[in-house]
Amino acid sequence: SFLHLRPMPLDAIYSLKETFKADSNENKIILGSGVYRDDQSLPWVLPSVEKADEIVAKTQDCGRYEYLPIPGYAPFYTAARDLLFGDLGDNASRIVSLHTVAGTGANRLGAQFLKETTHPSAVWLPDPTWVNHHNIWSQVGVNVKTYPYWNSSTRALDFEKMLRVLSDEATEGDVLILHACAHNPTGVDPTKEQWMTIAAMCETKGLFPFFDCAYLGFASGDLDEDAWAVRHFMSRGTLELAVAQSFSKNMGLYGERVGALHLVTATAEIASNAKGHLSRLQRGYVSQPPTRGARIAATILRTPDLYQEWLFDIQQMSSRIRNMRRALRDRLISLGTPGSWEHIFSQIGMFSYVGLTAEQVAIIEEYSHIYMLKSGRINIAGLTTKNVENVARAIDHAVRL
Ligand code: LMR
Repeated sequence: SFLHLRPMPLDAIYSLKETFKADSNENKIILGSGVYRDDQSLPWVLPSVEKADEIVAKTQDCGRYEYLPIPGYAPFYTAARDLLFGDLGDNASRIVSLHTVAGTGANRLGAQFLKETTHPSAVWLPDPTWVNHHNIWSQVGVNVKTYPYWNSSTRALDFEKMLRVLSDEATEGDVLILHACAHNPTGVDPTKEQWMTIAAMCETKGLFPFFDCAYLGFASGDLDEDAWAVRHFMSRGTLELAVAQSFSKNMGLYGERVGALHLVTATAEIASNAKGHLSRLQRGYVSQPPTRGARIAATILRTPDLYQEWLFDIQQMSSRIRNMRRALRDRLISLGTPGSWEHIFSQIGMFSYVGLTAEQVAIIEEYSHIYMLKSGRINIAGLTTKNVENVARAIDHAVRL
């Protein structure tokens, strides 16, 4: 019987959407889930995606609804790998890639694979991190621990504390979750020097780096810049690692569920064996991933003109986000809102940890009908030239109470 079941709260990001929907105020604003919106607060179909979609529709034959192979659509996951790692040379044979049900599917598949093959004593998640990391790793049954990341008083990365805790407490074989760029939820990334120190620590302590890469190209508008950390870990030649890659944000293909898991192993033979194990797990979850979104992504990545157009599209998104960061910071400064707001502009990617308390977030929701996560994370892409003034005033009001 299911009598013992207690109510289970909905994931924080999704329950915020429900609360927002139920609010009848016409000036309501949602700065919750990580989805891009244009300056009219509308979803944006990237022009490059629209064109690729037409090409895919035209070229589809009677086999378009057939099953893909278990590892997914090879032209997609190979192009995704090359986009992420750049020029791999001989190293390509050390990498196993699979097409997954978006970034979540890649995180889950990688977690299950590691749990079964290397039996980590713990997975280390940044505090804070994407809420679903906790969910995924606890469902897989690996002991979840957190390492310090955000320092609420400096509103910056607490790098020393992060290193200290990991050096003192993590043990060989533990998995270390890292956000490749545009850390969700804080918008704060390590510097290149700090990335090098983290990589060296993984080597000396025998930690397994697992990157979540949901914002490649979207974070800074520059693919090479956003891929730098992953490529650096790879270039050391000493580390095995995994990357969960998503095309939800950088191609706006959210509902199409397009992603890839890449596992970098020590040798080509290990990679080939690992592919069999990963395929067995994938078969148990979804048999094979869905086709259409991966065909659209592969068309963009493999057609030079469309690829150039896509680079332009991601720059459009990332520069609108930067402009909104600047606008919010400037409004808060001109209102004389107590506190320092520079971090809103210097953070990167879709999110900002503004530095609001849960009480302030509740006040903003109640008085101004502006919805954000209790942590004070806001989706900058939810800001527009029209609503940024209201958001700044709402923050100003809450901070002064
Ligand atoms: C977010 O963090 O808001 C996004 O990644 C959306 C999601 O599904 O969690």
